[in-house]
Amino acid sequence: MQGARGRSDYGGRVVRLAKFLAGAGVASRRGSEELVRSGRVTVDGETITDPARDVTERSAIAVDGSPLGDAPTRVVYAVNKPAGVVSTARDTHGRPTVVALVPSDTRLYPVGRLDADATGLILLTNDGELAHRLTHPSFEVPKTYRAELAGKPVGQATLNALRAGVLLDDGPTAPARVRRIGQHTIELTIHEGRKRQVKRMCEHVGHRVRVLERIRFGSLDLGDLKPGAFRRLTDAEVKRLSAEGSGRRGGSASRSTPGRSQPSPGRPAGARRASRS
Ligand code: URA
Repeated sequence: MQGARGRSDYGGRVVRLAKFLAGAGVASRRGSEELVRSGRVTVDGETITDPARDVTERSAIAVDGSPLGDAPTRVVYAVNKPAGVVSTARDTHGRPTVVALVPSDTRLYPVGRLDADATGLILLTNDGELAHRLTHPSFEVPKTYRAELAGKPVGQATLNALRAGVLLDDGPTAPARVRRIGQHTIELTIHEGRKRQVKRMCEHVGHRVRVLERIRFGSLDLGDLKPGAFRRLTDAEVKRLSAEGSGRRGGSASRSTPGRSQPSPGRPAGARRASRS
């Protein structure tokens, strides 16, 4: 077989098989690992069950006997998730999913999660590897939320506590960038993406979150994208986002990804709008 796919994001480098499959849009990173473990993938004619096996773009890779042809074009969509829509690809309770908001002939994966009652910017892509990189905590891609808080007006002590980082039951949070934009409303930028993190941080400092909206993901602003609306990102926007998910401070998200310095939490210089006006 010829080169395993048309795109050459890896520039001839050696990458792990599961990472390669995810990048080719075969399945999510975890799905690709399972695919390999279950013996459905061959490399140069040999069945490989180790997801960490090294491959290159010259390897002849097949899934269930079908060679990987040219990879589908990578697509990334920005969606303004409405409340009540879940951000998984499928929901066992039959609730509407964010993936169903975007008609597509290629399989899309949500990049990370937003709670069902939260609204705002979520990305969908057919590139499982990109989705992994943009959400893995070690890459520290900043996400900004606007939160309307219950209780007394937000005071300086609350802002300071959130800025310093708080101790949650799954460990301390990194310092957040926080600003008050109303008596009961803050904008908070974090880069860890733990479950219900914003709500738990705010609860920790004495405020229940009444309304939560994500307004920025890395370099991308929600802009004036209406609830339920979506748009495909331009090549330049995708390139910029990929660069944000291409370095890390620590951890082991990807051994073949070169390190680079990280943006600090907060609005990156030149943040882009997700909606075109
Ligand atoms: N933090 C939360 O609490 N919920 C989300 O959906 C995202 C971040």
